[in-house]
Amino acid sequence: MRKICVKETSALNGEIRVQGSKNTVLPVMAATLLASGVSVITNCPDIEDVHVMCELLRHLHVKTKMSGNVLTVDTRQAENAPLPYSLTGKLRSSILLLGAMLARWQRAELGMPGGCAIGLRPIDLHLEGFLRMHVDVSLRQDMLVCRSFYLQGCEYHLRFPSVGATENMLLAAAGAKGRTVLRGAAVEPEIVELCRYLVSMGALIEGIGTDVLVIKGTGELTPSDYSNVYDRIVAGTYLLTAAGLPGKLKLTGIGEMSYMENTIQTASRLGISVKKQQDGILAISSGQARAGCFESGIHPAFPTDLLPVLIPVLLTADGASRVRETIFENRLGIVQELNRMGAGIRVSGQTAGIPGGIKLTGCRVRATDLRQGAGLVTAGLLAEGSTLISDIGYIERGYEDIVRDLQAAGAVIMYEETDES
Ligand code: EPZ
Repeated sequence: MRKICVKETSALNGEIRVQGSKNTVLPVMAATLLASGVSVITNCPDIEDVHVMCELLRHLHVKTKMSGNVLTVDTRQAENAPLPYSLTGKLRSSILLLGAMLARWQRAELGMPGGCAIGLRPIDLHLEGFLRMHVDVSLRQDMLVCRSFYLQGCEYHLRFPSVGATENMLLAAAGAKGRTVLRGAAVEPEIVELCRYLVSMGALIEGIGTDVLVIKGTGELTPSDYSNVYDRIVAGTYLLTAAGLPGKLKLTGIGEMSYMENTIQTASRLGISVKKQQDGILAISSGQARAGCFESGIHPAFPTDLLPVLIPVLLTADGASRVRETIFENRLGIVQELNRMGAGIRVSGQTAGIPGGIKLTGCRVRATDLRQGAGLVTAGLLAEGSTLISDIGYIERGYEDIVRDLQAAGAVIMYEETDES
């Protein structure tokens, strides 16, 4: 059983090349189904969630080949098939295959999606949208059965700007007949990237980057290659961690800086001097984080995925802080493990009161979801002694190699093989 051992680290100095984005590449992989042919995706992160998405596509007779960070997807022999829960349950993004399969075959049968246990994560907004597109939706045992004789463009106002529901509707609408108008759509960078990819396949989309998207079904789409953007959450993980440790950390591979503008602003509020450079960011930190009140929100607000990384940094700050989560019910799950390390954080509803000037004590902790696991790595670097993190499979779902990356910046972190679970 592999674990991650993190030791108290005195500084972060060095350069980390930020991997390709998980949350853009997964919808793009689903989108390849909309055309018959070969697509090459570069800067594809070599992570567990991508491997599972490949497995799901292979179930649909799609050929996938990963070579380094280049993923080749060949949909020429794609065939519709039911996707069992044993596969769909491994990944939240498996639900995006519903929109793509409907666009390609007007029919889809699949198990419910899985994903990190950070909240209830229903799919009602996805299904409501499909119902408006004249899709007949039913549940047979544990399988969602969706079919449409005529996938029809529609007008749909999302009650909440769900990232996944917007992506699913975009995928279906690109293959539907007529015009679809999505109001109240999500505006996260992942949506912009998916729109751009669909446009490169021949789709007509207006309003990209706004909350009103107009998609005109054009009939045949053609395969297209995709050069993946950097992972703004991975970049944010390292940038925020730097606020708790002195040093000069350079993050490279960062293209469109606006995708992580709020994280950069938060890092500045924490006291980091952030210099934007041609290919990235230079973060200069005194190691003394500034306390404050922070709140997650939909883009362009501070991303929910980074709250678990921000919390351990705030423990080292020069005073008490408060953070509030507004998207997921269980996002503050990291507090339980941090309190075992001596944090003394109090949670009331969706708000955590974080005392400042705390020196955590390393101990054995367990990753329970992807970003909580990343937050534990940050906590381990700031804690006295050693922190041994188990269940690191959660971290590997989204971080190509967090140990390699942080070692490049001088962190004392390593894998440890143990017999115990
Ligand atoms: C995406 O999840 C990301 N995942 C998440 O990142 C990210 O935290 C989240 O967007 C918010 O930015 C991927 O892109 C694979 P939502 P998604 O639908 O699409 C509620 C990570 O660590 N909701 O915008 O699942 C839902 O319960 C992951 O990389 C409904 O009520 O997020 C939540 O409270 C974790 N009904 C809120 O909306 C629905 O039908 C936001 O969910 C759908 C969602």
